[in-house]
Amino acid sequence: MIENKNVLVTGGAGFIGSNIVERLLGQNNKVICLDNFSTGKRENIEQFLKGPDFKLIEGDIRDLDTCREAVKGVSIVLHEAALGSVPRSIKDPITSNEVNVSGFLNMLVAARDEGVGRFVYAASSSTYGDSRELPKVEERVGRPLSPYAITKYVNELYADVFGKLYGMELIGLRYFNVFGRRQDPFGAYAAVIPKFVKALISKESPVINGDGTFSRDFTYVENVIQANELAATVENKEAVNTVYNVAFGERTTLNQLVDYLKTSLSRFDPEIANVEIKYGPPREGDISHSLASIDKARKLLGYDPEYSVKEGLEKAIEWYWYNLG
Ligand SMILES: NC(=O)c1ccc[n+]([C@@H]2O[C@H](COP(=O)([O-])OP(=O)(O)OC[C@H]3O[C@@H](n4cnc5c(N)ncnc54)[C@H](O)[C@@H]3O)[C@@H](O)[C@H]2O)c1
Repeated sequence: MIENKNVLVTGGAGFIGSNIVERLLGQNNKVICLDNFSTGKRENIEQFLKGPDFKLIEGDIRDLDTCREAVKGVSIVLHEAALGSVPRSIKDPITSNEVNVSGFLNMLVAARDEGVGRFVYAASSSTYGDSRELPKVEERVGRPLSPYAITKYVNELYADVFGKLYGMELIGLRYFNVFGRRQDPFGAYAAVIPKFVKALISKESPVINGDGTFSRDFTYVENVIQANELAATVENKEAVNTVYNVAFGERTTLNQLVDYLKTSLSRFDPEIANVEIKYGPPREGDISHSLASIDKARKLLGYDPEYSVKEGLEKAIEWYWYNLG
């Protein structure tokens, strides 16, 4: 648990960031959110703006002075700001690199100069690239399959070097397909769960890329919050300056996912059970299967994911039904 601390959450107006901010504010922390609203939304943080312990800096991590301003007096940085999405990075690798690599480096430099105690950052399962090994273990990665994957891997390399050169304490969390409340269902780069839920609620056919046998280790956002709290507070030096898989540790195929979403949503509206599923070509840069070993996080951080995929989906579906339906 993070308590009574000054914490900076970059990307705090985004999906994962705003969920982290909410938890921190409930635990007596002072929270600064640095976000440029490129993919984040004001409505995600509207409720926090009224409180005395929340400060918004509307700015860009590509600007070093903004990063320096944001880290002032902060003891923990939870760095979530980045341009997500593999297809976005394939379409525009330059902007993805500027935000995810140069912006990351700015944050590291700002945190180093301010003497920030702990820097936890969002890494990604995409770093496993073309490795076919299952489950994925932290020490063995393949070759990247997209510009996005490269940017996230470069983050890990920079973090490693900053730990060694400047004595900083950094931890990377390789998130696996996170889902939950406030994840954006709109736009070309929406993630699969919110996209499918939105389609089903509107009784439109969700389109599965490929034949639906691809699988993912879907991870409910509460488990990700837990991992961030543990990484920000772990005292064992062996646990610091390394990376961890953050997942549930179970594989769900796209066909299983969509079946489950249909069944669950038809409790709200029985007609949803009749919506047909469509299939399209597989997407470039996508890996076929993804499953994490979470042994390292369990052992060194004490990570113990509280929500199974189904428990998380129930919560997320209910949230979407009342917020989109
Ligand atoms: N959602 C997932 O499944 C997943 C999986 C692996 C890794 N990640 C990583 O987790 C982090 C959070 O992802 P998310 O799903 O919440 O995405 P998101 O798009 O909802 O959140 C990202 C936030 O960063 C902000 N941001 C983007 N560029 C910025 C910039 N230049 N300056 C300041 N703020 C900027 C956006 O406005 C947004 O609020 C990202 O680093 C992402 O790469 C997410």
